Amino acid sequence: MAKLLYPVFLSVLFVHVLSCCSASPWQTISTSTSLQVDHGETFLVSPDTAFSCGFYSSGKDTNAYYFSIWFTHATDRTVVWRADSGIPVNGHGSKISLSHEGNLVLADVNGSTVWESKTGWGKHTTAALLNSGNLVIRAPDNRIVWQSFDWPTDTLLPSQRLTREKRLVSPSGYHVLYFDNDNVLRLLYNGPDITSIYWPSPDYNALQNGRTRFNSSKIADLDDEGNFISSDGFKMVALDSGFGIRRRITMDYDGNFRMYSLDPSTGNWKVTGQGVIEMCYVHGLCGKNGICEYSPGLRCTCPPGYEMTDPENWSKGCKPTFSVSCSKQREDFTFIQIPHGDFYGFDLSSNKSISFQQCMQICLDSCACSSFTYKSGGGLCYTKEQLYNGQVYPYFPGDNYIKLPKNVASASLASKQPGLTCNPNGDKVMLASIDAYRMNPDNIRWVYFYIFATIVGAVELVFIMTGWYFLFKMHNIPKSMEAGYKMIISQFRRFTYRELVDATGKFKEELGKGGSGAVYRGILGDKKVVAVKKLKDVRQGEEEFWAEVTLIGRINHINLVRMWGFCSEGHHRLLVYEYVENESLDKYLFDDSGTRRLLSWSQRFKIALGTARGLAYLHHECLEWVVHCDVKPENILLNRDFEAKIADFGLSKLSKRDSTTFNFTHMRGTMGYMAPEWALNLPVNAKVDVYSYGVVLLEIVTGNRVSGGITTDEEEDIDLTQFVQVVKQMLASGADLDIVDNRLKGHFNFDQAKAMLKIGVSCLEERSKRPTMDQIVKDLVVYDDEDSHPEYI
Ligand SMILES: *[C@@H]1O[C@H](CO)[C@@H](O)[C@H](O)[C@H]1NC(C)=O
Ligand SMILES: *[C@@H]1O[C@H](CO)[C@@H](O)[C@H](O)[C@H]1NC(C)=O
Ligand SMILES: *[C@@H]1O[C@H](CO)[C@@H](O)[C@H](O)[C@H]1NC(C)=O
Ligand SMILES: *[C@@H]1O[C@H](CO)[C@@H](O)[C@H](O)[C@H]1NC(C)=O
Repeated sequence: MAKLLYPVFLSVLFVHVLSCCSASPWQTISTSTSLQVDHGETFLVSPDTAFSCGFYSSGKDTNAYYFSIWFTHATDRTVVWRADSGIPVNGHGSKISLSHEGNLVLADVNGSTVWESKTGWGKHTTAALLNSGNLVIRAPDNRIVWQSFDWPTDTLLPSQRLTREKRLVSPSGYHVLYFDNDNVLRLLYNGPDITSIYWPSPDYNALQNGRTRFNSSKIADLDDEGNFISSDGFKMVALDSGFGIRRRITMDYDGNFRMYSLDPSTGNWKVTGQGVIEMCYVHGLCGKNGICEYSPGLRCTCPPGYEMTDPENWSKGCKPTFSVSCSKQREDFTFIQIPHGDFYGFDLSSNKSISFQQCMQICLDSCACSSFTYKSGGGLCYTKEQLYNGQVYPYFPGDNYIKLPKNVASASLASKQPGLTCNPNGDKVMLASIDAYRMNPDNIRWVYFYIFATIVGAVELVFIMTGWYFLFKMHNIPKSMEAGYKMIISQFRRFTYRELVDATGKFKEELGKGGSGAVYRGILGDKKVVAVKKLKDVRQGEEEFWAEVTLIGRINHINLVRMWGFCSEGHHRLLVYEYVENESLDKYLFDDSGTRRLLSWSQRFKIALGTARGLAYLHHECLEWVVHCDVKPENILLNRDFEAKIADFGLSKLSKRDSTTFNFTHMRGTMGYMAPEWALNLPVNAKVDVYSYGVVLLEIVTGNRVSGGITTDEEEDIDLTQFVQVVKQMLASGADLDIVDNRLKGHFNFDQAKAMLKIGVSCLEERSKRPTMDQIVKDLVVYDDEDSHPEYI
């Protein structure tokens, strides 16, 4: 067999170099070329070698091979496409060939055709793998007559379009990303028993979900900068947004789709975006009768009276431990409450404005009813026959009640794990399968951010027991327990608009006003003083707003202002924050009226370090890589001990999704603190915060608004640039630091001031030369010797 090979430097058609036994793969092939598999050979490579195409072992069964395209330089050789036959071929003797008719054919060892491109353009047809990862077949006139990009499997590559007739399907085959008839990009669970849509939230309409039904082009694509944009208004921006990074969007095993970026130094993938924000929204995750919850990581449990169908496999769900029979009397049944639980869909009946008792009665009267969900606001009652898509979500405004024979219910309540009888190995099983979802250790970290949810979860177990109390002792909850519940849950919760109107005395006392809205002082029912922020211009879908806010609510760091809760009612969007005693840094730094105490040097250093720590936490430790985008003295609050607390973080995300309709660039950030890349419309990353921090640092040292005072942008730029030059010369010459705030009358720590100026200046460099916040913290901590210079305090 003569193989035809085109060397890189002679990729001119029809110039063949005969090669009998070369193992190196081709870039372009012409007709009558074939490759026989012998344990995974490479057939074609792209000119830049980023993609390879050939036989790929399915992994589980070592003799099962698929004709696939994969990332050559990814450690796990991530497959992006495979010939969609569903049938693997034998590892010995199977063959891929471009026949003399111009048909690309995959044949098994016995000669049977497993897959073919169904092209037939004759002798001068060629096939090549392009730099984009697209496998193309060209007719003799060089026209592309077939391309793998038209037949996506589970992955979308940059420049590959998802269109009306294409869909991404998860490897299990159950989860599908596609454009629906109403032009909305959706996720569908298409399981063995049921079919249901779970993203965007089926509880809201397209508009409430921030989508439009009116653009019928049905196109979604991932561009080279990491923006995944769909014609229905959905937009996902890579956390590492910018050019030069290899990315993909993959419909994963677990039913979520994610954006991944390749780290070229390690060859590992990093998740830089995900479709469904709360994993429990994904349908089919915990199987029939299963319940999804966070405690602390994602896990599946069975409702009381149910047990795992297959202890090894959650997708098989749970089965009742009792026999379901219609011969039983109504009196034989009772209910166990699953607080904030629900099984989405498959309602037997739904009624409005009825009492809890009536709702329970409807379920008792129906033999088919296996549980009901009751939302007391509105008296909504949903009875369920089949229990699918179960989840416990701390803010779900209703509860589910499982119908059980009395003896099963009491046994379940008496057992050591009341209520949610779950598989003792539940966590392990789930974590093991998370591994299977190709999650790398970076992503596992997010699990820890559900610790807050654990607290709630623990309380809820208590509450399930009290649910029993509810039903048998009728509203006789001990007061102490009620208070305890309230206390712990109030760490982060949903408020009603009425509550916040009352707390703030109808928004009487305004504390301040920022780009995202005004802030008011309020006092909650438990006498806790809070700051209530009324957001304006949040045009985000309800579900996404909840999810985002919940994520911000989980962020907890001493140098960040804590969020206690939120309110989302009608068009009202409010956030409830911890109240910080002293005012913002600008009031102390730039106030010359003498009404405020001058900040001492040691306080300034502490504020600089605290602010750096808060930002480093946001950038490097957080569940999601949070960029603040509006760092300035006005957003640095000071508590009683003059410890810095950064306000307003996470809000840039709340408006991001909408960036197609208004200019994000001008929404966030404040002139003078904004990095130049904002104006240049470059993608924004954490380095914008580093820039702003640098300006703040120089202001802390000098006590002057180095950022402002001048009206036009250009002059302002020049001014800051000139100032930076002055500082640089001063640092280089080793001269006295006479730019340090002269109100300190020379009472400052020279080494600290020098370090702060140096860091401040480096933060204003061009983007790639700026340090990271982590690095800044390390550099500052070296000079943190609080006790050794008492004379400066
Ligand atoms: C070839 O083998 C496959 C299984 O490996 C089988 O399904 C197919 O029927 C066989 N075809 C012929 C022509 O023997
Ligand atoms: C519809 O979506 C496409 C693709 O995103 C876009 O180019 C086009 O401008 C949109 N049309 C309208 C009327 O918004
Ligand atoms: C779990 O069950 C599902 C459906 O019943 C099946 O498709 C899947 O292969 C099973 N997974 C494992 C690891 O056994
Ligand atoms: C609940 O709604 C059904 C119709 O869906 C109605 O027949 C039934 O009377 C209602 N039950 C109550 C208690 O209102």
